[in-house]
Amino acid sequence: MILGLCVMVALPFAAAGGGRRGGTWDPIIRWPLDRRETEDNSTRWAVLVAGSNGFGNYRHQADVCHAYQILKKGGLRDENIIVFMYDDIAMNELNPRKGVIINHPTGGDVYAGVPKDYTGEQVTAENLYAVILGDKSAVKGGSGKVVDSKPNDRIFIYYSDHGGPGVLGMPNMPYLYANDFIEVLKKKHASGTYKEMVIYVEACESGSVFEGLMPDDLDIYVTTASNAEESSWGTESHNLKRETVEQQYQQVKDRTSNFNTYNAGSHVMEYGNKSIKSEKLCLYQGFDPATENMPPNGNHLNITWMLSTRGMRIFSSYGKGKHVDDSIDIIGVLLFGPENGPSMLKSIRDRGLPLADDWDCLKSMVRLFEAHCGSLTQYGMKHRAFANICNSGVSSADIEDACMAACPRQESIGWSPLITGYSA
Ligand SMILES: *[C@@H]1O[C@H](CO)[C@@H](O)[C@H](O)[C@H]1NC(C)=O
Ligand SMILES: *[C@@H]1O[C@H](CO)[C@@H](O)[C@H](O)[C@H]1NC(C)=O
Ligand SMILES: *[C@@H]1O[C@H](CO)[C@@H](O)[C@H](O)[C@H]1NC(C)=O
Repeated sequence: MILGLCVMVALPFAAAGGGRRGGTWDPIIRWPLDRRETEDNSTRWAVLVAGSNGFGNYRHQADVCHAYQILKKGGLRDENIIVFMYDDIAMNELNPRKGVIINHPTGGDVYAGVPKDYTGEQVTAENLYAVILGDKSAVKGGSGKVVDSKPNDRIFIYYSDHGGPGVLGMPNMPYLYANDFIEVLKKKHASGTYKEMVIYVEACESGSVFEGLMPDDLDIYVTTASNAEESSWGTESHNLKRETVEQQYQQVKDRTSNFNTYNAGSHVMEYGNKSIKSEKLCLYQGFDPATENMPPNGNHLNITWMLSTRGMRIFSSYGKGKHVDDSIDIIGVLLFGPENGPSMLKSIRDRGLPLADDWDCLKSMVRLFEAHCGSLTQYGMKHRAFANICNSGVSSADIEDACMAACPRQESIGWSPLITGYSA
């Protein structure tokens, strides 16, 4: 969370909370056990996903660790919180504080206690789908923990990473594709194993994962924050008992649009069933008694700190970026001509239309490109260009010819998908 916020708001209240805890708790309240179930006796589940790896992407795993700590304080049990994180930060040679992960400069350790359900090679889209569906037999490796939810339960999914049009990153290939993810949600809904679900996605272009695809009758509310340089939810200084999902959405929106003055193009979007957002956050994120007396919100944006963290956003594959961009530009020119190529690749569809009409075409286009031009890598999540090519109805033979012409010397790539895997 934000430094200013935590320092100025959280600490005084944390001290007050400590005093309360020491003296004035009603002895009948068996804290923390009594906070575990929600009022309607359902179980809260959470799936936390950091979709990246590498020290340059520190923030994503830090956000996920922090989210875990909030939920844990809120009374969720470890058996109901499933964490996907590559787990290469705490002991990373670049980490000046070995074994510690922080989520703001003066913050404490958020790493301790985080369950290592799915780490390293186990952080895959396939495992995430299996976990959400509660399908233990489909999970490969890891703790085997899945969302074994009952009809009355609530599920909270939080995803932090880089995204691109129609995709969310994963540290292991392939990426999470919008249509696959929505299919998983539909399947989960059809199984009747939850009451309501709230999904927060923080990644560039995360809206495009749901745009035109997310039905509103799945009892799921989705909010996406693009370009967030900080975790946009979950701070100790919020009273989750009083605050609603909508208030949290509104705060993120205000903050993110504030940030827009510095970096245009960041939007907070919502999808699915919007009546869910009038619900109290504690139904999903639990409730920490230490926040009892806090105001329902305390939004204060520390732009200085946010900008200083931008340095974290180092793309390990930076040098690769230009090659990918150039290759795609060439393909655009070959397929649509020098006049129309650039605008065809960049064109953005109207709201309500999905990124791609044919997701299989998009994926095979990505694989074709990678086979000839090398891995896209997270820098090159240029899927809008590929989706636009597919939407235009160009044949796959023409696409392949263009890829071969744009990248005639495969051996010069050095980022072979044969080593890293195809991203689609
Ligand atoms: C914002 O963050 C900066 C950099 O960490 C810090 O120096 C400053 O005191 C903060 N401002 C507020 C109002 O909290
Ligand atoms: C809550 O669930 C528990 C365990 O399933 C059950 O024993 C109890 O009777 C339920 N309480 C209510 C109020 O439904
Ligand atoms: C949206 O959620 C509300 C509250 O749970 C429910 O009454 C309504 O039927 C849902 N809408 C759709 C389209 O499923």
